[in-house]
Amino acid sequence: MKTVFSGIQPTGEIHIGNYLGAIRNWVRIGDQIGQNAIFCIVDYHAITIPHAREDLARLTFDAALANMAAGLDPNKITLFAQSHVPEHMELSWIFTTQTPLGNLEGMTQFKDKSEQHSVLAGLLMYPVLQAADILLYKADTVPVGEDQVQHIELTREVARRFNARFAPIFPEPKASIDQSAARVPGLDGAGKMSKSKNNTIGVLEDQKTIWENLRVAPTDPARVRRSDPGNPDICTIFTYHKLFSDLETLQMVNTECRVAGIGCVDCKKKLMEGLMGTLEPIQERAAHLRSHPSEVTDALVSGAERCSKIAKETMLEVREAIGLLPRNSLRPA
Ligand code: TYM
Repeated sequence: MKTVFSGIQPTGEIHIGNYLGAIRNWVRIGDQIGQNAIFCIVDYHAITIPHAREDLARLTFDAALANMAAGLDPNKITLFAQSHVPEHMELSWIFTTQTPLGNLEGMTQFKDKSEQHSVLAGLLMYPVLQAADILLYKADTVPVGEDQVQHIELTREVARRFNARFAPIFPEPKASIDQSAARVPGLDGAGKMSKSKNNTIGVLEDQKTIWENLRVAPTDPARVRRSDPGNPDICTIFTYHKLFSDLETLQMVNTECRVAGIGCVDCKKKLMEGLMGTLEPIQERAAHLRSHPSEVTDALVSGAERCSKIAKETMLEVREAIGLLPRNSLRPA
């Protein structure tokens, strides 16, 4: 692991799927490799589905704030906003010209999103921009949740194709996945937790709202009455217990659910303890950052400065490799 890159979209509140599937690993990696761990708020990705112009800047700031609250320390790692380093777009265009349409039309996320939204060309190009994000910094490792694996595979293909056709500039990065939380399920129990599905537990959501949503979340459908025994193995709430509760609670729930010794509401109350135990320190740091916003903006400023340097160097190599006329050759000193 020499250079690590990952990103998150500023499309709404950051949820426990983002936290457990990705950000928690980013924090760990940052502890190991410092500023070569680069994390990006991908605002140009966020506009591939219709967005509200009055919200975008705030959501970008909020995403940075939430990531810092979740433990990313900008004095250690690099945190920045994608649109502050325009080279992402330049490299993305170059990769677009090298990528067969067929590779993009088959992407699962494209197919999902194009069912929900009108299909803008940018939505199809989304994974090419993601490849540019990663390769601009020549990252070798990309810590993500399972839903991003296909995009990282495409990134490897983009790198391979470019290297073979022009010059061996790029590494072929690998996805790094925390198997314990590769795909955190949504509160509705119907699939992965996802901002677009409205089935999230927000990392910065207040306890009352979390409880209101958790209280009505489906459990094992066999437990119609309090006295019906249940099967934790098929219950979303038990999956959450595995992610948030201590071993003792986990064992108690695992045993007592099967014999109807504990009801679903009590089981959920127990979960709340572990959940808030994780979220409270994050929410406290978030409150601090809200009242000290310059800590967030300073982080974004220095992150963009550092990334710009790397990005400019890579683009000099890339432009030369594909044979563009270098601007600085036109009027020799
Ligand atoms: P995004 O914003 O959807 O999600 C950010 C990260 O959270 C992970 N994640 C999950 N992990 C486990 N369970 C879940 N339910 C869950 N939901 C989300 C995602 O896998 C992701 O790691 N395309 C990316 C953003 C991106 C990017 C990049 C990532 C743009 N450029 C370059 C890596 C490298 C996305 O939409 O993430």
